[in-house]
This record gives sequence, structure tokens and C-alpha cells, in this order.
Amino acid sequence: MILSTIEHVFRPILSRYTDTPEKFLGMISRCADAKFGDYQANFAMPLGKILGEKPRDTAQKILNDVCENPLAEKMFEKIDVAGPGFLNLTLRAEWVAEQLECAARDERLGVPSAADPKTYVIDYSSPNVAKPMHVGHIRSTIIGDSVCRTLRFLGHHVVSDNHLGDWGTQFGMIFYGWKHYLDEKKFEENPIMELLRLYRIAREEMDSNESVADECRRETERLHAGDPENLALWNRIMPHCLAEIDRAYARLDISFDETHGESFYNDRLPGVVQLLKEKGLAVESNGAVCVFFEGRETPMIVQKKDGAYLYATTDLATFFYRMENFNPDAILYVVDHRQSEHFQMLFKTIRMLGYEDVDLRHVSFGTILGEDRTPFKTRSGETVGLDGLLDEAVERARAAILQNPTTTIAPEDLDETSRRIGIGALKYADLSQNRESDYIFSYDKMLSLNGNTAAYMQYAYARVRSIFSRGGFDPNEVASSSKIVLTHPAERALAIELLRFGEALEGVAKDFRPNFLSSYLYELANRYSSFFENCPVLRAEEDAVRDSRLTLCDLTARTIQKGLGLLGIQTVEKM
Ligand code: ARG
Repeated sequence: MILSTIEHVFRPILSRYTDTPEKFLGMISRCADAKFGDYQANFAMPLGKILGEKPRDTAQKILNDVCENPLAEKMFEKIDVAGPGFLNLTLRAEWVAEQLECAARDERLGVPSAADPKTYVIDYSSPNVAKPMHVGHIRSTIIGDSVCRTLRFLGHHVVSDNHLGDWGTQFGMIFYGWKHYLDEKKFEENPIMELLRLYRIAREEMDSNESVADECRRETERLHAGDPENLALWNRIMPHCLAEIDRAYARLDISFDETHGESFYNDRLPGVVQLLKEKGLAVESNGAVCVFFEGRETPMIVQKKDGAYLYATTDLATFFYRMENFNPDAILYVVDHRQSEHFQMLFKTIRMLGYEDVDLRHVSFGTILGEDRTPFKTRSGETVGLDGLLDEAVERARAAILQNPTTTIAPEDLDETSRRIGIGALKYADLSQNRESDYIFSYDKMLSLNGNTAAYMQYAYARVRSIFSRGGFDPNEVASSSKIVLTHPAERALAIELLRFGEALEGVAKDFRPNFLSSYLYELANRYSSFFENCPVLRAEEDAVRDSRLTLCDLTARTIQKGLGLLGIQTVEKM
């Protein structure tokens, strides 16, 4: 990894001038313009100010210090002081080549495993069950999955937990519908659709009839109180709900270590309220039990006047359970930005309870919009089902393949290839966004072969792979034995980008942003293109150059494959 090695060189030197070297090490980054160098350090400006000297002088002093370090001598071709005190660092091609040879031989592609592995609990997907999965479930599921995969690859211990909404008011409504309108035959045929029908009837009647709303509420209460009839009904319905979501997860290639829904915590809720009261954190207010916060008018309600417990109560019980069972360093909640108030209050309460060390993060995200820039709906204004959405992505991928007269995909691979391209497109379109932004859902854009899309990356991968089959080379053999020589600037640029894979992954891990990885992959694919245009591989003049370039190709393919894999996207050998 380049950046961490540069930091390693500068850390002891900066320590001579400051007690907080890490802060200044954070000011080393890639050069925006390769003309000036590969990396640049901007710390001399603030450091010079602190030391009361001209930043250029500080930069020069640090430069002199660096030159004493033999590793720096090996690593940098030159270091310049520029402008007000920038240090421009140019890497030595031999050093880059050596690093690449190691990366090529390494299963981890040169990415070290975390020296200080952390334990993360990641709460994601977490749909409210008993309804079909829909477009609103995509983001949490895909972002959470990608964050899990990345942190795991970096060597951390990850517990993924699907905190199902399996205990909410939707059950009261379904029970009401069940007791008045159940069509047994329909339920046998398609349980989830029948449950949806019953839910909708209840919804409609509730809206116009207050007594139906009361009845639905009582049905939920009975379930929570352990009423045998409702509990039996719940137990009858739940396997179908789980089968429904599992089917969606299988299509999306998603799995969880734990699936502890809200129901799992039911027995623990009275204890939570009692604890909060004992600690003096919760008080009664208008009959409800609330936690109040300084400087905030609205409290967090943990028990309603009628005795019912709430979402927040369950989240507290869940927190205690996770601390007891997994002792995490961090808990991530990958949840829609509209719940940010809830998490702010939840996290404050946890701190007030004395848990100071565990890192709590609401990994929030924006909304998927339709072409009209309002939340994505079907033409008739209904929620877009996940199944239909995935079907269409796969269908369109298949159509695009069939339209290409030169496709080399064998007929028996068509289904699987279309699936990988279609689902990959959907995931990548989501993950390549800044997660906090809303984005517009567009099949055309996401399936385009040009631009920052999964298809573009999958195509790049397949193209690199085809070089090996065309030339009759075994990538494993090439990668394990070749020496790397870097001569052409495009070759050097590709090489440096390949060594930045770990940096990109650290970027994802820092603030749980998979778009750092997609941007990296896009940049890598672009550099590969320019390498491929400028540097003949199979027709290289010398065998040694050919083997070196084949190794670059192989490492590019493996990095794309691994990178896409960490986004939850599969590659295809032919496109
Ligand atoms: N089921 C909730 C919903 O659909 C999301 C749960 C998120 N996780 C949590 N621990 N609160 O809104």
C-alpha cells in the first residue's frame, strides 16, 4: 500500500516537530495532476505556522530529514518543494514494480489485514415483514452488505444482523383482515399476496372507520401480550414471511449471521423501561414513560400510556443484547436518513447509560427517485416491488446481450450472465452514489456499457481475461513468476493505481462509503484502457515485457473481480 508506506516514512520525522503527527499525516494525498508527482504532502503550511517559520522552510527541513531515511531513498525518485510549501512526491518505478510483484503473488492483492481488528455489528436490510420486499428495501440491504464484505476483507470481525420488523402494527392489521376476510385457498396459493390483500383491506377500513383502527390496535396488543390465538397466527404466518425475504436475499446474493427481529426482544422490554427508570433517565409524562434530553423539546418515548412499548424500547433491548453477546467496538445502523432523529436520541440515551466506548453510527442514506424526481413509484402510484424490479433489470440485460451480434456467450450461460449483469447493474447504480444523496433510478443508465456502471467494469474484466485465453497463457503462472518493468507512462499510471486498492478500501471503511470503491474501480478501468491502447501486450517486442504486462493485466482483472465482489457484484468471463 503506497499511502501507508509514505505515512510510515513521514511519521517519525513529523514527530520531531509535533505531538500530533497523525493529524498532519492526514494531509498526504494523491496528486491531482500527475505532472507534479504521484502524491503530495500539504502539512508544511499549517505546521510552519505553528512553528512560526516560513512553510517553505519547514518543507525543506522535512525534505532534508526524509533524505536520511534509506527507505525513502528506495521509494522516491524525487521530492520537490513547490508553491507555498507543498511537498510533491514522485515514486521510483523500481519500487512500484517491486510492490506490484508482491501484490501479484498475494491472494490479498497486496492489501494487508488489519493490524488491530475490530468487531462490528452491522444492522441492515431489516425490513418490516409480512409485505413483499420493495424498492425501499434496496439501499439498506445493498449498502449494508457491501460494508460487511469490505470490513471482513480488511480483517475485521463482522456480525451482520437483520433486525426484522416482525412485531409491528402490520400484524394487528393482518390479524383483523384474517379474522374477517381470509380466503384460505388464496393463502395456500400465494400466502404473501393474500396477506397483502388482508393488510390493504384493514388499511382501507381503518382510514374511514375509527373502530376498525381500534380493533387492529387491540389485535397487536394481544399478540404482544402473548394471546395464544394471535401468537399461533403469528407463528403460522411468519415462516411464509421469512421465505419471502429469503427468496429476495438469494436473488441478491445476501446473507446474514443473525436474524433477530423485534419479536426476539419482546420479553426484555419491561426490563429496559425499569432500568431507565432506576437510573433516573426515564420519567412519566402525561402517562407515558419518556427519556428527555437537554436542549430538545421532544422526548424519546419508551412506553405509551396504554403500556405498549415502542421502536426505541426494542432498539435499546437490542443494544444490550448485542453488547452482551458480541461485545462490539462499533455498531452500524444502515437505515434511511428519515430515522436520524430516532438514532440521535437512541445514541444519547446509550451514552447517558454510561456506554462510552462503543462507536455508534447511523449509516444513513437518501431516497431512490423516479424520473420525475419524486420517490420512485409505479405508474399507478404504488410501491415498486423488488421482484419486478430485479426481473426487469435481468430481462433488459438479456435483451442487450441478445442484441449484440458479436456476443460470445454460450446459450447455456445466458441466464446466469444476464442475472449477474442485471443485478450487478442495480447494485452498482446504488453503491456508486454518495449514499446520503437521493438518486434517480434509470435502467438505461445503469445498464450502459459506457460510464461508471457495473456493466462497464464487468466488460473491462472480461476483456482483460480474454487476453489470456487468446494468448494461451495461464494467469496464475504469469503472476507468480514475472518481473515487472515499467517504462511507458500509461503502464506506470496503471501500476500505481493497482497499488491503491487498499487505500480505496480504507476509504470505504472510514465512513462506510462503498462509492469510494466504485470510484476507484472506475479509475482503474480507465487507466487500464489507456494502458491497453498504448502498450501492446501479446505483441510486445520482448517476452519479458510481455510477461510483465500480462502480470499487470492479471492483477487488474483480479482487482476488478475482488472489488466488484466487495460490492456484492459478480464478474462474467464473457460478455
Ligand atoms: N424495520 C425498520 C424499518 O423498516 C428498520 C429497522 C432498522 N434497525 C433498527 N435497529 N432500528 O423502518
